[in-house]
Amino acid sequence: MANVIDTIDKYQYWRDEKLAKSVSDIDNCTVEINKPEQLSTAEKDKLLTLCRYNNFAIFQTPQLQDYESKLVSFNQQLNLVDFDQHLYVKNQGLARITPSEQKDQAEFIPYTDRAIGWHTDGYYNASEHRIRAFTLFCVNAAESGGENQWIDHQMVYLLLREENPDITKALTHPKAMSIPEHKVAGVVRRKTSTGPIFFIDEITEQLSMRYTQRKKNINLYNSTEIKQAVKKLDELLNTNSPYHFSHRMHSNQGIICNNILHKRSAFTDNQASPRLMLRGRYFNQIQ
Ligand SMILES: [Fe+2]
Repeated sequence: MANVIDTIDKYQYWRDEKLAKSVSDIDNCTVEINKPEQLSTAEKDKLLTLCRYNNFAIFQTPQLQDYESKLVSFNQQLNLVDFDQHLYVKNQGLARITPSEQKDQAEFIPYTDRAIGWHTDGYYNASEHRIRAFTLFCVNAAESGGENQWIDHQMVYLLLREENPDITKALTHPKAMSIPEHKVAGVVRRKTSTGPIFFIDEITEQLSMRYTQRKKNINLYNSTEIKQAVKKLDELLNTNSPYHFSHRMHSNQGIICNNILHKRSAFTDNQASPRLMLRGRYFNQIQ
């Protein structure tokens, strides 16, 4: 994809193609997978086509034995190989997202039963550790709640630019959003991360996004235009559009995506079988 931010005809061509080809019915975004460790050509084509125009696909597998290694090879067949060495990553890049009793882990909302607002994964990462794709696979659903919601971040850009190009211009400001450094006992664990909200990724040349709705953790650049643009962005996220998706994953279902915007509702577990999702985060995009 050429630079759709800076070149008006490239933007218009991309916009028209995206509006024509994106899919808004979730059933048409779901691919039945027979053997995740050995995708058929038709299965792989369908996943890639959905990810090309919608930036995500839902997949459904039979009950799997040894599901972790099968999911790793599923992801590898879609170019997801360079995984983020995140704090709690084990099995070849997959993290087990489940409520944790361990105090250090329970400080992070994903490892609780609480709701998580709109964000892209790794929004706080330095550009050399940019998350370009993530996958989630439901091993066990919560007793109630735990619904996922998502929207293609590129569609969000498109809708905002159509509303008013000044909004998207403000969101591409090189210092639009800063995440303060993270210190533990006086030691810097992660440096301050400053950058645009929408940008062209220099490796994939794709329109990409870093964002979180957790205003507590971020500083917006001190400009009225940027603050108003972020307000417009939040308003769009908090409404509903044909491009907003909402789905409660059940066992053996997953999502594979080019780091789209997503959120999660709070949930209640059956203590005997807590909600368990497997998550992979990658520096590659799906292809
Ligand atoms: Fe996330």
